[in-house]
Amino acid sequence: MTEKIFAAGILRGHVALVTGGGTGITGGVARALAEAGANVALVSRKIEHLEPAAAAINNARNGNTNVGEAVAVAADVREYERIEEAVEATTAKFGKIDIVVNGAAGNFLCKAEDLSPNGFGTVVDIDLKGTFNVCRAAFAQLKEHRGHILNISATLHYLGTPMQLHVSAAKAGVDALTRNLAVEWGRYGIRVNGIAPGPIEDTEGMTRLVPAPIKEKLRQNIPLGRFGRISDIETAAVFLCSDAASFINGEVIVVDGGQWLSSRLL
Ligand code: COA
Repeated sequence: MTEKIFAAGILRGHVALVTGGGTGITGGVARALAEAGANVALVSRKIEHLEPAAAAINNARNGNTNVGEAVAVAADVREYERIEEAVEATTAKFGKIDIVVNGAAGNFLCKAEDLSPNGFGTVVDIDLKGTFNVCRAAFAQLKEHRGHILNISATLHYLGTPMQLHVSAAKAGVDALTRNLAVEWGRYGIRVNGIAPGPIEDTEGMTRLVPAPIKEKLRQNIPLGRFGRISDIETAAVFLCSDAASFINGEVIVVDGGQWLSSRLL
């Protein structure tokens, strides 16, 4: 998909560490960055998700030097030392890191009154503290190579989303990290941006977190008349990671077909 939109190899020579990089939206983002020429390290808890994703990228490469290589690195974003090791493994394999994509996330539907403190904390640990851990562990590399951080956020916290208090709080924090790091680390040439996807079809989030009875109503309320596709997020990610976005810093781009703006009409 992205190779039909962007010039071949526009991210050639770049190295991306992508958390949550095996499946779903960030699986697509990792594949798109590789299709654009970047070497990618796929990092998440489950090696059984990562290895097939890395193999698929490497097989599709088929000797095309405008397409990047992939490597799978198992690490939980909640464990700072494991993330430091993942950063080391990536630099050992590919020589540097100049793109970080924070996509690892945990979520479930739960009413606030039923949510345990540990349930709330677990999602904040993965989504928010995990994002900080990866940014912090990769900072030296990003500073040396004037890199880019892309945080995958959400629109849930723009209004109030029932049964999503925990992830809304975490993603609001992620947006704060995006803006604060953009200000603090801009001086090192590091850009920090986010993407807030709306409802994206063919994802675990859509299957598990959007109850069937409201799915069609939700679709009808999207001004562009369709759910998002993983490829919609991929193209936004390649754009933000490329030189086309070289003066965009501290911005969270909403990719939702206008859904959240019209959601009060639901
Ligand atoms: N409803 C309410 N609470 C839940 C829950 C649910 N569906 N799922 C987990 N929790 C709570 C647990 O009860 C526990 O709290 P407790 O100790 O007070 O009981 C706490 O969250 C931690 O759960 P646990 O399963 O031990 O954590 P984990 O680290 O193994 O996994 C998640 C946590 C969030 C990643 C887990 O829900 C999960 O695996 N989700 C599927 C993957 C996913 O979320 N992908 C993102 C798709 S958008």
